[in-house]
Amino acid sequence: MLTHEVTTISTTDFAEDVRVGLERDGQKELLPKYFYDDVGFALFEVISQLPEYGLTRADERLLCRYAAEMIDGFPSPVVVAELGSGSGKKTRWILEALCRRQPTSYFPIEISASALARCQQELADLESVRIEGLPREYLDGLLEVAARRRPDQRLLVLFLGSTIGNFDRSAGERFLKEIRDILEPGDGLLLGTDLEKPVDRLLLAYDDPLGVTAAFNLNLLARINRELNANFDLTQFEHFVRYNYPERRVEMHLRSTTDQRVRIPGADLTVRLRKDETIWTESSHKFTTREVAEIARRTGFHCTAQWVDKEWPFAESLLLAG
Ligand code: AVJ
Repeated sequence: MLTHEVTTISTTDFAEDVRVGLERDGQKELLPKYFYDDVGFALFEVISQLPEYGLTRADERLLCRYAAEMIDGFPSPVVVAELGSGSGKKTRWILEALCRRQPTSYFPIEISASALARCQQELADLESVRIEGLPREYLDGLLEVAARRRPDQRLLVLFLGSTIGNFDRSAGERFLKEIRDILEPGDGLLLGTDLEKPVDRLLLAYDDPLGVTAAFNLNLLARINRELNANFDLTQFEHFVRYNYPERRVEMHLRSTTDQRVRIPGADLTVRLRKDETIWTESSHKFTTREVAEIARRTGFHCTAQWVDKEWPFAESLLLAG
């Protein structure tokens, strides 16, 4: 079943975030949520299939194998809200398990309209799932779902794929608290987190020899060129990845290989970059299973179960709102 709702997300937010992130004298920064335009989304799908990047496959394996177990603690009926719709592929397992019991409403929340459309297509064949995509920021979308659910319905929030890893640890924790505040006791959050693993394995995952992740990273500049009429010369930038040990995260940067000046008319900005100066584009924090359970406790949840993939250490944690 498909329900369409059309809302435009303005390019002014994008322009404003680009301006704030690039105008500063210290570490320049772009937000990873802007990777996912049509091209970026397609590149991420390829990344997910690279032998070096096991994260998405681990997430999918766990959901495929244990979906029934994961939803067991939820007496029906359940409304599902997903933060970031992704391709819809891994959500299918959860929705199939739920709608074996009874019809289920599913609200993917996603700022990328093309990602939303893709997800809706992927899942359109699920007969007893009512899908309504919400083109919103995560918390705005979740507030809307919470306002619409009936008192007898439990809300199950999916935050998969270790997207939480893109937040700084303190911001991630604040974000989980904000989610908790929107939920009622007995509601749940299924949280996917990538786990710590040998650093050489992580660096290869984010700097694959084929260069797909490099293209994914550079596409952010290409997108600024397309949407904000900028003149970034992509040959003057390099994909740069490092592991930040104290913070336990992989960082992706774009490194300027020359002294240069870039015009971004759509953000009303001219940026100067020195040779070797970087634009920080993404952090992917890595966790331990125990740490996730502790974060859950501090943010008003109980971690009631965890499922861990052995092949590519990754965890799904079921957090119940206390
Ligand atoms: C989709 C946020 C989980 O951080 O691993 C993949 C995105 N970046 N390769 C991640 C990503 C570079 C990914 N997440």
